Amino acid sequence: CGIVGIVGRSAVAGRLVESLRRLEYRGYDSAGVATLEAGHIVRRRAEGKLVNLGDKLAAAPLDGHVGIGHTRWATHGAPTERNAHPHATDRVAVVHNGIIENFRDLREALIAKGRRFQSDTDTEVVAHMVSEELEAGRDPEAAVAAVLPKLTGAFALAFLFDGRDDLMIGARRGSPLAVGYGRGEMFFGSDAIALAPFTSTIAYLEDGDWATITHDGVTIRNEANAVVARQVMQSNASAFLVDKGNHRHFMAKEIHEQPEVVSHTLSRYVDFTTGRTRLPDDLPFDFRGVRRLVISACGTAYYAGLTAKYWFERFARLPVDIDIASEFRYREAPLDPGDVSLFVSQSGETADTLAALRYCKGAGQKVAAVVNVQESTIAREADAVFPTLAGPEIGVASTKAFTCQLTALAAIAVAAGRVRGELSEADEERLVTALMEIPRYMAEALKREPQIEKLAKTLSKVEHVLYLGRGTSFPLALEGALKLKEISYIHAEGYAAGELKHGPIALIDETMPVIVIAPHDRIFEKTVSNMQEVAARGGRIILITDPKGAEATGVEPFETIVLPEMPATIAPLVYAIPIQLLAYHTAVSIGTDVDQPRNLAKSVTVE
Ligand code: G6P
Repeated sequence: CGIVGIVGRSAVAGRLVESLRRLEYRGYDSAGVATLEAGHIVRRRAEGKLVNLGDKLAAAPLDGHVGIGHTRWATHGAPTERNAHPHATDRVAVVHNGIIENFRDLREALIAKGRRFQSDTDTEVVAHMVSEELEAGRDPEAAVAAVLPKLTGAFALAFLFDGRDDLMIGARRGSPLAVGYGRGEMFFGSDAIALAPFTSTIAYLEDGDWATITHDGVTIRNEANAVVARQVMQSNASAFLVDKGNHRHFMAKEIHEQPEVVSHTLSRYVDFTTGRTRLPDDLPFDFRGVRRLVISACGTAYYAGLTAKYWFERFARLPVDIDIASEFRYREAPLDPGDVSLFVSQSGETADTLAALRYCKGAGQKVAAVVNVQESTIAREADAVFPTLAGPEIGVASTKAFTCQLTALAAIAVAAGRVRGELSEADEERLVTALMEIPRYMAEALKREPQIEKLAKTLSKVEHVLYLGRGTSFPLALEGALKLKEISYIHAEGYAAGELKHGPIALIDETMPVIVIAPHDRIFEKTVSNMQEVAARGGRIILITDPKGAEATGVEPFETIVLPEMPATIAPLVYAIPIQLLAYHTAVSIGTDVDQPRNLAKSVTVE
């Protein structure tokens, strides 16, 4: 979860731990460092908190001048010392954030060739693959360049090489990695906060980049291995725990963080090694006995809950009642004691959501909460807490908290389906594999930003926008409209595509953009009919779809944003990115206060 690397002029172990301490806020359950001692890789790793690693280093100090460090949130394999990073062979040590999706195949192939693994992690395959290349006589750069294209997933990596005390290689795909510039020393860090103790002069790698640092500088290459220059900037991370990175607004930073925080959140709910979901051991209820699930939330969190209704009903055949918390709390809904209610909240402090929770508790229900702030009132009062690990969300308009809520909810729904016997082991594995792909697809969706930025210029001139979607794209249509009105102040409405003809169709003319969210899924054809109704009335369609969908519309959209084809379950998470970017760039183009839009509050603690 946190990466640091130093090519230094003096002992680095203490500084690596200091940097990891800065990254503690991101959460972790084991930690480790590796340095070169007399030219050879030596590691110290420990389960639990950094003090344990500190104790090990005190007992057996390291004094190498080059080294890497890592704090780990268990994803593949338990949070034990042997699974802690760095992972190493006698030639290379590596630290890693994110998910190597194809590690099971890679691992089998390596084992078949006689390679022995010491851990259960996905990371160790990378160490072995790079080692193989080094053994074949390649130099470190050629070895890394040969391995990177064989890995799928969203990740960041830093490599330390045996015998090379003036060299370190880092790579970024999906998960962030920054280069830090010192005096005769160079650094890698998973963010500016990791680098703050050493330098405020940094450059962020872009997606697909990999970089070689030596004492004197850095060479950055892109995915095609061409040398590139990236902007060097001054970070103010030493002053703030959270900074904007190289983004203009927190909202932009938070949109771009999603591949990372989603994989972080996912690691709480699925075991990547076995392809199984996992629920907390101390869950105070059993999904087998639940007859009806009541979900309640406000704003964006409500739309996450609405999406989850589709998942719980489909995967777990569990009926879901969902309400906006402010309605629910006064509706005096009859509730079955012993059933379960679920609340979704980023802040964990929203007054209406909290009141709804207390109402359900009072009615004898077991209450569970999906929350981002673990110390919050809702987290404290719930019987079961499902954390989202989005990190602090500063932008008032929720983005990364939303997709982390969806991540947790999707995994919980699959787990419930399994427990209730509605999903087979194979179904579970297929769905977990799909969930593991979210970060990679998100990173791909983020690449549509230049197109969306251009489109936003057009959108910034209109007065009204209609969002349409069906199935799980319906809550996303509501969220798309909410994002747009929140930050750009353009009037927007989200509708279930099938409802178009029951009213909103009267609004359609040439001045009204209609944004259609329509992956090529089993209900795509139905949405096509609605698009034709819009086209026939001269409406301007902006279609967000995949290659198959783009071919099969039968209408000529004003603009099509094409995302890769992906499993239907994960579409709402990935399609969230273009709608967030569209709202963001429209607002920027209009010139509103994106991070603090007028009249809105991040956390609404009044009724
Ligand atoms: C406010 C925020 C929204 C958020 C809603 C619910 O209105 O502006 O972004 O979705 O509250 O907040 P919660 O913290 O409960 O998720």
